[in-house]
Amino acid sequence: MTTTIAAIRGMHDILPERISTWQRIEDAARQVLAGYGYAEIRTPIVEITDLFKRSIGEVTDIVEKEMYSFTDRNGDSLSLRPEGTASCVRAVIENGLLNQPLRLWYRGPMFRHERPQRGRYRQFHQIGVEVFGLDGPDIDLEVILLTARLWRTLGLTGLRLEVNSLGDTQERAAYREQLVDYLEGHRTHLDADSQRRLTTNPLRVLDSKSPETQAITAAAPRLMDSLGEETRAHFAAILAGLEAVGIAYRINPRLVRGLDYYNRTVFEWITDDLGAQGTVCAGGRYDGLVAQLGGRDTPAVGFALGIERLVELVEAAGTVAAPPLDAYLVAVGEQAQREAPVLAERLRDAAPGLRLMTHCGGGSFKSQFKRADKSGARYALVIGDTELARGVIGIKPLREETGQRELTLAEAAELLTAASPRA
Ligand code: HAM
Repeated sequence: MTTTIAAIRGMHDILPERISTWQRIEDAARQVLAGYGYAEIRTPIVEITDLFKRSIGEVTDIVEKEMYSFTDRNGDSLSLRPEGTASCVRAVIENGLLNQPLRLWYRGPMFRHERPQRGRYRQFHQIGVEVFGLDGPDIDLEVILLTARLWRTLGLTGLRLEVNSLGDTQERAAYREQLVDYLEGHRTHLDADSQRRLTTNPLRVLDSKSPETQAITAAAPRLMDSLGEETRAHFAAILAGLEAVGIAYRINPRLVRGLDYYNRTVFEWITDDLGAQGTVCAGGRYDGLVAQLGGRDTPAVGFALGIERLVELVEAAGTVAAPPLDAYLVAVGEQAQREAPVLAERLRDAAPGLRLMTHCGGGSFKSQFKRADKSGARYALVIGDTELARGVIGIKPLREETGQRELTLAEAAELLTAASPRA
């Protein structure tokens, strides 16, 4: 027997039964983002590996152990994108788009070789936003507000907002020294990963999951206390804006994010309903990245949300129903089968947006009607020799106990248009 080939571990097919939730999320995001004036950008899925090393950071989990990197036929090291920010920054520099403020969004697959578990995949999908050229707290607030609007649009109520400020480069460097001094005194009690990070990326020790390390970091100096006046004012203005709009938040001093490019504002939307992988959306400011990648000095802020995680939440909230078919066309007899596609095209012309499935593959009236019923359509349209001879279509409601009627094409189109939820 020939063996079958399975999908790669951590990479999934999105089957038709789930697709309406995906589309619902994508449509809601598109609608909300358009409402704030954001324009879509699409970038390649593969980039030069150095782009990610230089932006996400050499000593981050993503770059150290999670990238899908390979050498292409030219000998270049390429990687499947693990996230969208770096590609976006590359694209706006390369295409000379930075001469005015830019509000962009994107969506698509991202790739990280993580250990798969619920909510964590090796191919996953993000919808992300990146704003360039604006440095005030008003834009940080805007990107958070639009995520809150998206949750409302999707009927999600259980998400919590956590925020923090990481300070600017100097503030963080000064804090880093204090933190390292403190942690060095407790080195032997830190978990192995944190001991290693002490020299490479000490801020990440703050979000260690080890209870022992957490007990040590609980008493560590706080980054918030090292922030200068300007950074504090920036952060305070965002918090005041959230309060004015009525969005609840919690300041989480441990929130440091796993990518190196952030400064000042960072935020995450978290849920308790997804087990260990509770972060649905995350982002923040990254004012240094554009210059770091060779562009002119440009402030920036953005976020990305994980679509798979949102899909789970939206499904659990039970707010999505698959859009039903309006009609299923049954054609009995040779002549009717030849006529069916012609009639279906005329109906689609006459009733734009109509969801009409045509029976294919022939069969008896009974078997075709069974399919019509199973399709979930509201109406069965029937043509056979009699209908053809009289120039009418038989129309039978499938979800109510009413008999079959005969209508002309124009009448049928009118009825289906009126019955369609989009009409
Ligand atoms: P991130 O925190 O790495 O940030 O990812 C953002 C979101 O993508 C996460 O909160 C999560 O919902 C989802 N996600 C990440 N990894 C996985 C995975 N393995 N499986 C399923 N979902 C996952 C970024 O990617 C930044 N680029 C966000 C950003 C944009 N910051 C500024 N602009």
